[in-house]
Amino acid sequence: MRSIITYLGHAAVLIKSEAGDILIDPFLSGNPDSPVKPDEVNPKFILVTHGHGDHLGDTVEIAKRSGALVIAPYELGTYIGMQGVRNVHTMHIGGTFTFPFGKLTMTIAHHGSAVIKEGEIIYTGNPCGYVIKLKDRTIYHAGDTSLFMDMELIGERNKITVALLPIGGNYTMDIDDAVYAVNLLKPEVVIPMHYSAFPVIKKDPEEFKRRVEEETKSRCIVLKPGESY
Ligand code: NI
Ligand code: MN
Repeated sequence: MRSIITYLGHAAVLIKSEAGDILIDPFLSGNPDSPVKPDEVNPKFILVTHGHGDHLGDTVEIAKRSGALVIAPYELGTYIGMQGVRNVHTMHIGGTFTFPFGKLTMTIAHHGSAVIKEGEIIYTGNPCGYVIKLKDRTIYHAGDTSLFMDMELIGERNKITVALLPIGGNYTMDIDDAVYAVNLLKPEVVIPMHYSAFPVIKKDPEEFKRRVEEETKSRCIVLKPGESY
């Protein structure tokens, strides 16, 4: 079976693997672009990159209903466990662990991580990205991050098939930075994410695609929410 990547809008991605569905950053109920509701997904695994509402999203509710294993950085995973989620696996930056779907490495991301609840800010440690080594392909989900030089190292150590990169700017890399990142990571395919959910991150993914194809050796695939690769 070939793995299938479905874009659920913003930074939410569903990967169908032989070991079950892997859901990343399930911001579904709060995202008007999301093609699915939280009760329409049945993941075996949920990967969370950081505590911000547009990434942690519906993780707790989906995990409680589906029994999915939630994977997150230590502090965020501990917070998720405190919300009543039983099945949590915490990791940290640079850590690799083998799950039924394959080897997972937690990578750096330059950003913040906090849950804002009832007027209080609860910091949830470092944000992260993920390198997911499935049987048939290696997927890099950068999370929310700036451009950083160590992307070259991530590309060198992992033969990346598909890279999911933020292009929205303001909180993360913009199109300019993301094109530069593609040249460091050297993935076969890049899929843009984290754009246009809010007015301040409005970007044209077709402009990114044009530039990737002119300025890098990678291919760019723009997925609308609900579309798959
Ligand atoms: Ni964020
Ligand atoms: Mn975000």
